[in-house]
Amino acid sequence: MILKKKIFPRRNIAKPIKNLRTSGQRKQTLWDQASRWYDSLVGMSGSDYHQTIVMPGVLKLLELKPGRRVLDLACGQGVFSRFLLGKKIKPEGLDSSEELLRMARSRSIKLIPYHLGNAGDAKVLNGQKFDGVACLLAVQNIEKIEPVFQNVAKWLKPKGKFVMVLTHPCFRIPRQTHWGWDEDKKIEYRRVDRYANEMKIPILTPPFVDKVNYTMTYHRPLQNYFSALLKAGLYVDSLEEWMSNKESASGKRSRGENRARKEVPLFMAIRAVRSS
Ligand SMILES: C[S@@+](CC[C@H](N)C(=O)[O-])C[C@H]1O[C@@H](n2cnc3c(N)ncnc32)[C@H](O)[C@@H]1O
Repeated sequence: MILKKKIFPRRNIAKPIKNLRTSGQRKQTLWDQASRWYDSLVGMSGSDYHQTIVMPGVLKLLELKPGRRVLDLACGQGVFSRFLLGKKIKPEGLDSSEELLRMARSRSIKLIPYHLGNAGDAKVLNGQKFDGVACLLAVQNIEKIEPVFQNVAKWLKPKGKFVMVLTHPCFRIPRQTHWGWDEDKKIEYRRVDRYANEMKIPILTPPFVDKVNYTMTYHRPLQNYFSALLKAGLYVDSLEEWMSNKESASGKRSRGENRARKEVPLFMAIRAVRSS
């Protein structure tokens, strides 16, 4: 997920963490280090985008009846799992950040099973089967997608659906895409400097501890997602592009800005189905 630098409301931070070291010998992930910042942005019910666009959109694409089992892949602090529980779906979460999972557990009113592990590990959740798998705003934070998609195919029941939402891989690439203003045409445009090659882009996060923290975004062109899904036996049957719901209320560029938001999508949702 790509999040702009912003002032984060401290009141919204989950349980304070006394010691940022994770248990046992496990090496901390970048997301362990960014966990307090991320949790302060998402909170109990999700960011504005989670609540108004992403979570309702994914639920609709999953097309599941109450009581079905869904894996919230790269669940973070569990925002979508809590949302699913409220819709009478049975969620389980998987994430590689022990700290974010600690926050997920502390925020769960009812017990939701949360599993610690790398989504690309062949042994993780071995033998478990789900009616649906969802990955919200996280596939671009995963270094290698091929083994993850292979696992998704193993975890899904036949005809089960995998839905992933990502910040739009064509128009919203950190550092490589920007808004610009065309004074002659009085339009806001999106400039794309790079797209076709994979890129590894660090994103700075606020220093809750006395060092610079960052997370990593892995940019991939769209064709790489499609070919990795296909290789795993997952067939794309739906693709949606979702616009920002923000509006500029006043100012001489507001008309142009609002038009651009309706033309240049913010998110892409891809649904793929396990064939048999
Ligand atoms: C931007 S957060 C999104 C979390 C959550 N889905 C949400 O919408 O708030 C990205 C998440 O991906 C997780 N992640 C990154 N690589 C992973 C991997 N290989 N296996 C499992 N989780 C991973 C991180 O720990 C982090 O929780």
